[in-house]
Amino acid sequence: MTALTIPGLDQAPTTHERLLSWVREVAELTTPDQVVWCDGSDAEWQRMTDRLVAAGTFTRLADKPNSFHAASDPSDVARVEERTFICSREAKDSGVTNNWMDPAEMKAIMTELYRGCMRGRTMYVIPFCMGPLTADEPKLGVEISDSEYVVASMRIMTRMGSAALERLGDDGDFVPALHSVGAPLEPGEQDVPWPCNDTKYITHFPEERMIWSFGSGYGGNALLGKKCYSLRIASAMARDEGWLAEHMLILKLISPENKVYYVAAAFPSACGKTNLAMLQPTIPGWKVETLGDDIAWMRFGEDGRLYAVNPEAGFFGVAPGTNWKTNPNAMRTIEQGNSLFTNVALTDEGDVWWEEMEGRPEHLTDWKGRDWTPEADEPAAHPNSRYCTPMSQCPILAPEWDDPKGVPISAILFGGRRKTTIPLVNESFDWQHGVFMGATLSSEKTAAAAGKVGEVRRDPMAMLPFIGYNVGDYFQHWVNIGKAADSSKLPRIFYVNWFRRGDDKRFLWPGFGENGRVLKWIVERIEGRATAAETPVGMVPSADSLDLSGLDTPASDVDESLKVDVEEWKAELPLIDEWFDTIGDALPSSMRDELAALKQRLGN
Ligand code: GDP
Ligand code: PGA
Ligand code: MN
Ligand code: MN
Repeated sequence: MTALTIPGLDQAPTTHERLLSWVREVAELTTPDQVVWCDGSDAEWQRMTDRLVAAGTFTRLADKPNSFHAASDPSDVARVEERTFICSREAKDSGVTNNWMDPAEMKAIMTELYRGCMRGRTMYVIPFCMGPLTADEPKLGVEISDSEYVVASMRIMTRMGSAALERLGDDGDFVPALHSVGAPLEPGEQDVPWPCNDTKYITHFPEERMIWSFGSGYGGNALLGKKCYSLRIASAMARDEGWLAEHMLILKLISPENKVYYVAAAFPSACGKTNLAMLQPTIPGWKVETLGDDIAWMRFGEDGRLYAVNPEAGFFGVAPGTNWKTNPNAMRTIEQGNSLFTNVALTDEGDVWWEEMEGRPEHLTDWKGRDWTPEADEPAAHPNSRYCTPMSQCPILAPEWDDPKGVPISAILFGGRRKTTIPLVNESFDWQHGVFMGATLSSEKTAAAAGKVGEVRRDPMAMLPFIGYNVGDYFQHWVNIGKAADSSKLPRIFYVNWFRRGDDKRFLWPGFGENGRVLKWIVERIEGRATAAETPVGMVPSADSLDLSGLDTPASDVDESLKVDVEEWKAELPLIDEWFDTIGDALPSSMRDELAALKQRLGN
């Protein structure tokens, strides 16, 4: 058989046989006009952004250097959980938190979708590394994509290009990650600014460590190093190898006495990770530095402590609500430019704007390209609009952010968005109880995923859409991590809720920079200095142990935010029962024991 000649296919800057044959196989299936091997250079960024401007996908911003606005197709604005599949060989290894399909069946369906799907487009080969390039065993991947938007975004979000290819060498291991927007072009056909397909599949083959994505250009569906690799595939790797791949920010907290604590926190999408990661504490003397805002990989160090690394190199942050008051460090990061903004509004001066940003524009172009005035009944920016910006520009970036050793974690926080029931902060009795808190974490649905917003659902460890294997086995893995460790060296586990509301729907706790007060209490608990009241659900700050000096929130609201209401908790129990029942036999007996103990403490 004579091999198909596709321009660029044979100009590979590598002799890696497995990579070369995979690239050829995909090119022959998808039949792009040409193949381009990405090097991650400035010149390549320039070519991509120029092409995207010419295609009408990007608008260059007048006010921020080297920055661009993109508006997606209105149907392609968030992760699509109902189209996300874990194609493990056996259905039981996928579990109840993601969809399952037999891998052979899925490959047959998707192969037909991929056939000819890059016609009229360029196929990019994007080598990337998740985590520091200097790691002993760097976690490498190669994404194939027919989207320039993906190439540009991957350059911000990952260590991408020649350096990653170099670390791959001639026979290094990598995760193949195939992506297509699924919008082939006929000869002469005019492209649309945001090509995508109504049929979408976000598919993972955990045993093969492989990702196939089709039909979407949106971040979490298309930037395959992020959720697909660093959470779904990595969680399966972590189970096999005894570490944790989690949906967590990593921050460094520095006390007035210059003591350093590293904290990791798991909140569901759009529940405050990026904000907490860049916190500017209001209490004097306390400082935060940022290491990561979305994903943490944690493994035991030689000293028996749990060390965390952020696999990413950029922030993919929720735009609405971000402003100089709530998150000044995010504003300072994006102000320097080199950023992409998706589905925000454009000002008449050629800058970006979104809800709750400073300034009261009289006229905007909304994310759908329509004229917008303050009278409009829809927000100007989509609620899940995003900025994509390099971590290196963050003014409070911790210097050790790129250290392959990671940082030793002292506290793990779980949290969600709950109007009722869940107190502002609550410390677990021990590791296993902390795992139970994570396993029963609940939150109101946000715009970060397609579907109804506001509904309360269980979101275990904020990983519901991201666990790459059976959720019951995942809980057992967490329990085992605790058993494997010297308990005095394990991080302490806390459950937080910044989103509890009063009668008139107001937030009881002011949040944002004031959350530093909660971090202070957590540190003082670790140091054995702060007191707590023992409640049926955990250890909650006692009256005077939370530093409230200079806070203008009424004390009654703070009290209300801390309250453990036995009746509310009793109403929560059937929901937890129901959740555990859906997990079935795979649920560890220790989690049932924890639930029984909670019921008993509540007098149920
Ligand atoms: P992430 O998606 O988990 O990283 O969440 P973000 O930090 O991007 O925040 C999501 C949304 O929640 C944004 O609109 C924020 O302004 C808002 N938010 C974040 N932290 C707080 C908080 O402490 N209190 C309140 N009320 N809102 C918050
Ligand atoms: P988020 O990240 O958690 O910052 O919202 C994106 C996502 O989870 O979809
Ligand atoms: Mn996330
Ligand atoms: Mn975020």
